[in-house]
Amino acid sequence: MKISIFGMGYVGCVGAACCASLGHHVIGVDVSPHKVELLRSGRPTIIEKDIERLVWAAHESGRLEATMDAAYAVENSEISFIAVGTPSTKEGHLSLDYIYKVAGQIGEALGKKKGFHIVAVRSTVLPGTNARIGEIIEETSGKKRDQDFTVVSNPEFLREGTAVHDYLNPPLTLIGADNETAVDRMRALYEDIPGEFIVTDIRVAEMMKYVNNTYHALKIVFGNEIGNICKALDVDSHKVMEIFCKDTQLNISPYYFKPGFAYGGSCLPKDSKALRTLARDHYIETPVINSIEESNEIQKKNAVDMIVEKGRRKVGILGLSFKAGTDDLRCSPIVDVVEALLGKGFELRIYDKNVKLSEITGTNKDFIMAKIPHLQHFVYDDLDRVVSGSDVLVVTNKEAEFTDLPKKYPGKIIVDLVRAWNEVDYEGNYEGISWGNINTNEKQNEKIGKDMTETEF
Ligand SMILES: NC(=O)c1ccc[n+]([C@@H]2O[C@H](COP(=O)([O-])OP(=O)(O)OC[C@H]3O[C@@H](n4cnc5c(N)ncnc54)[C@H](O)[C@@H]3O)[C@@H](O)[C@H]2O)c1
Repeated sequence: MKISIFGMGYVGCVGAACCASLGHHVIGVDVSPHKVELLRSGRPTIIEKDIERLVWAAHESGRLEATMDAAYAVENSEISFIAVGTPSTKEGHLSLDYIYKVAGQIGEALGKKKGFHIVAVRSTVLPGTNARIGEIIEETSGKKRDQDFTVVSNPEFLREGTAVHDYLNPPLTLIGADNETAVDRMRALYEDIPGEFIVTDIRVAEMMKYVNNTYHALKIVFGNEIGNICKALDVDSHKVMEIFCKDTQLNISPYYFKPGFAYGGSCLPKDSKALRTLARDHYIETPVINSIEESNEIQKKNAVDMIVEKGRRKVGILGLSFKAGTDDLRCSPIVDVVEALLGKGFELRIYDKNVKLSEITGTNKDFIMAKIPHLQHFVYDDLDRVVSGSDVLVVTNKEAEFTDLPKKYPGKIIVDLVRAWNEVDYEGNYEGISWGNINTNEKQNEKIGKDMTETEF
């Protein structure tokens, strides 16, 4: 295939060399005459393992051109990659100046080109940037997105130092697209690259790189804080983390990674607090570990705020224990939400098939009695009664009996704290605590926003 790559820095130069090695014809574009000259003489613009050999081979085979002429590059390729820098501004925002400049150049060139063109954004950009790039190209080319061209997100996952190896062996290839032709062409381009080829929404793809990099940074500082505590206790942190990583069920796994409600129960709050206190006793600074509880408390407050914002007084709480299938109320985060709502004068009805107040004993009973001594006035053992008497339903666990709620009770406002449904075709207002709208009912979605401004208080 014939491709052009705008930006011959780390990402662009590696992409150009690797794509040429896969048999594609590559036109590298840069504003730096020096970089263009280097590539024209078969030399890379960066220092990386294996890059010299690949660039030279690409140059020798005639599969790598370099130019400063954007129009030439667009005219002679079917896909244009954008791989220019997205540096931080002084305030910490992302500067998209280079990206939008290139979008304008591609748009101007496209105005004169016949045939469908794909623009693939390889640079790291925030959700919404691809849409803006599409608008700029429409404005400058006079052409229509989806008809004459499209913009796809194709984030780069390489690490400097192992960039060539990472490019040719990515953990996965990610395409955010809304155009079938573009997906087929991107699939063809990467057919010799191993790893899963994932097609998703453009905004999801745009989000991924930030999530990846922030998580990688979090892993590093978490490992370091654990190491610092271990050192103070004369424990070998490398042995600790080696064993930590062997648990692929709970530690290095998808478990606990689903956005939703706060954690609770009798172990996580207690033990993370104990580790924090231990660190403090040894004068070890652990800001990341210290902030865990605060973040968890904020998520409880977010739940309360969501419910309050609905502007309805009658609220049904579906699930009180700290997770489905247990009657353990100790440190159940929803108990804190209930306490806050009662304090604000809400009319609550609570249902949890596992929680029989008369049968609760021991520390479980002590906990709930200390928090909400008059709880029995709000707890019902009949789900239908709770739902019928409430305007807002707060779903706090994934009990099977809640599955049919949207179908059985259209019109209620649902606040979902646990992603009880993956999508809901629901004629009522639905809001998840930590995800964008998944209500697929178009009529209802049009109404959202208008309704919510009314309040009964
Ligand atoms: N470096 C990495 O390890 C890495 C990994 C993954 C993603 N990324 C992302 O990829 C993007 C590029 O990063 P990089 O490290 O390759 O940047 P870089 O600064 O090394 O290269 C950017 C290149 O773009 C060129 N350029 C600027 N404006 C241009 C224009 N109008 N037309 C053509 N070329 C132009 C610059 O001259 C430069 O050579 C960034 O968004 C970065 O966050 C980087």
